[in-house]
Amino acid sequence: MRTQVGIVGAGPAGLLLALMLRRRGIDCVIIEARDRATIEATIRAGILEQPTVDLMAELDVAGRMRREGVVHHGTILRFAGQNHRIDFAGLTGGRVATLYPQHEVLRDLIAAAHERGVPIHFSHQVKAVDAEAGSIHFVGEDGLERHLDCDIVVGADGSHGACRKAIPAERRRDFLRIYPFCWFGILCEAPISSEELIYARHDRGFALISSRTPAVQRMYFQCAPDDRAENWSEDRIWAELQARMAGEDGFRLKEGRIFQKNIVPMRSFVCEPMQHGRLFLAGDAAHAVPPTGAKGLNLAASDVWLLDRALGDFFAHGDRRGMDGYTSAALKRVWRGQHFSWWMTSMLHRTEGASAFDERRQLAELDFVTGNTAAATALAETYVGRPFGD
Ligand code: DHB
Repeated sequence: MRTQVGIVGAGPAGLLLALMLRRRGIDCVIIEARDRATIEATIRAGILEQPTVDLMAELDVAGRMRREGVVHHGTILRFAGQNHRIDFAGLTGGRVATLYPQHEVLRDLIAAAHERGVPIHFSHQVKAVDAEAGSIHFVGEDGLERHLDCDIVVGADGSHGACRKAIPAERRRDFLRIYPFCWFGILCEAPISSEELIYARHDRGFALISSRTPAVQRMYFQCAPDDRAENWSEDRIWAELQARMAGEDGFRLKEGRIFQKNIVPMRSFVCEPMQHGRLFLAGDAAHAVPPTGAKGLNLAASDVWLLDRALGDFFAHGDRRGMDGYTSAALKRVWRGQHFSWWMTSMLHRTEGASAFDERRQLAELDFVTGNTAAATALAETYVGRPFGD
């Protein structure tokens, strides 16, 4: 088997890239370890930046997102028992965030890939990638080993995939930070508690109030890294969430049956460089962010936006400049996203052993970010996302 671009992973990075390459008439094949149903049911974050939404519209995969996604013109930072609004649209000249969960994006992208004739091999396990030769070795559902020869391999196989390891360890530098807390996430059958997302700082720890549909809500609260979903009964979860949202304004969450619980790890990770030989990494294969601010999918979209241009120039004109400059171009936004995700996390979470000084400083920072137009604009701009390639 051979193709121009072999893509490992049918997540947001792999699928968006495949649709962009398809538009240019470049051949590609996607190899994915999971089956389609698992991908379409995996619960991840829900916020799309403006440039991600624009890219989906450009690729003609935005129809359902426009109908079912919810535009957020602003968000709430809640601290000291009060809401403080950040007006995205007003501060950024009309740019907004869109709430449309990642698995819905994936359903739309997979459907479009099928319609447009992009081959996706689900349930195929990649065993090894040869970055110099450009080949992908994998095992199909029949248990037989095969390989795919490619001009270019794109590693979009997530944090635990095989592709990153194909960059020799002596050529690679990994940057890692593990946070001393996790998020406890729930899905519940309840009406919407707040039209806009609430990011709450409380002495008991962080909480986030998000939504999925008018009847299903997504909420998170900071928990200990060794905590387990079984430790939390429904009553205990609601008591904790209500306590973290309580304030002099009398705000109460609308409660309902909790039908899903999961624990989300918190880590920041970057692998440099993001390429070696014929191999280019994109999305979580190269970097991961803590969930605060929901940058993961959006950083993946920005990586492949750059790769599409670079590969377009290479296949059309033999021009390698975009490919050679991919790592340094991509890392600019990756590190911006790293700083933002770390900053939002550190501003809103309770750290075990934090001093009274640390707490006062955190509150002063939140006061500044919500009370000063320049500081609020800095948050809003990164949250809604600067144009790709900016
Ligand atoms: C969601 C997750 C996030 O990490 C975030 O910052 C906003 C929303 C969500 O799952 O809805």
